[in-house]
Amino acid sequence: MPTPANPRPGLLAKVGVPLLERLATPHSPDRYLEMINPTWSLREVRGVVTSVHRSAPESITLQVQPNSNWRGFQAGQHVVFTLIIAGVRRSRCYSVTSSEHHRDGLLEFTVRKGPDGLVSGFLHSDLAPGTVVHITQAQGDFVLPSPRPAQVLLVSGGSGITPVMSMLRTLCDEGYTGRVTFLHYTRRAEDVPYDDELTRLAAEHDNVQLLRVCTQEDNDRDGITGRFSADQLEQHVPGWRQATSYVCGSARLVEDVRALWAEHDLEHLLKAEQFDPPAAIVPTDGEITGTVSFSKSGKSADNTGRPLLEQAEALGLTPEYGCRMGICFSCTRRKTAGNVQHLHTGEVTTESEADIQLCVTVPVGGDVTVDL
Ligand code: FES
Repeated sequence: MPTPANPRPGLLAKVGVPLLERLATPHSPDRYLEMINPTWSLREVRGVVTSVHRSAPESITLQVQPNSNWRGFQAGQHVVFTLIIAGVRRSRCYSVTSSEHHRDGLLEFTVRKGPDGLVSGFLHSDLAPGTVVHITQAQGDFVLPSPRPAQVLLVSGGSGITPVMSMLRTLCDEGYTGRVTFLHYTRRAEDVPYDDELTRLAAEHDNVQLLRVCTQEDNDRDGITGRFSADQLEQHVPGWRQATSYVCGSARLVEDVRALWAEHDLEHLLKAEQFDPPAAIVPTDGEITGTVSFSKSGKSADNTGRPLLEQAEALGLTPEYGCRMGICFSCTRRKTAGNVQHLHTGEVTTESEADIQLCVTVPVGGDVTVDL
């Protein structure tokens, strides 16, 4: 298995990088370093997969040892994985599930196999210990505040468990004494990754309340059933209005939670992250008009109303992307003309020049040009 540490990273960073880059021109020095060891790089984070195991029927959990370019993470953050599959670079966004205080330096990820998941399918069928992966530094502001709040409520659905698992592990590791409620929704009991660990953490920590809810089974293992509702919170989490709260899951779960918090003027206590694309694409003006132009490539077509990332791909372009749902910012490009609407926030950007996320932005009200 390759050794992930870079050769003398401190010296290279301070003195040798500019010299090596000049010597290696026209190629990157990484091209030569990776011939010696595929995890070596002057600046990129690369890691070697150290273990892979099946954590639930449709989920795998993998551990990655990053090289010395890795700068650490906060519980709740994600990275963009890039893999070469059949000769094509593919990127996807996955949350770190490890505790911030993990001592072995390994990063853990749990990946659920999606119905048309090219990357998740590859990870499930082909990933083996020893595989080298390229990852970004940790990203995202879906994180616990510091100092920690007096009470924390973690709500998740399906694969949305991953960032909040990292938060729960982190809080338990640092001896947090405030109340933590872990409310997780899944279709079936067997689909819960980390099920045994959750049971153990709740048994070992009096301040941790564990509520696992099965939405498609008559299974009230933690005394609670059915889809997310205000009644459930009132009955099982009476102090929820005072908690600093996090929700991660499907668009429906996130919307339901957001609506309840808004109804009680508690948006300032809620952070949300959703793990599937926005459900509806309805431009503010209700009409799909105009032309979409990609100036660098010289391509254009009638606006279809779909996100700009899809419209670019339909024209044969291959812009960079990661999550395809507005989380990772990998697809950010400059809009140089026209108006666009963000599908999560509904916000319309009218400035002539603005950086936009192609995967969650649609043209509105006429022609749009993107620097791509
Ligand atoms: S691909 Fe992640 S924000 Fe667009």
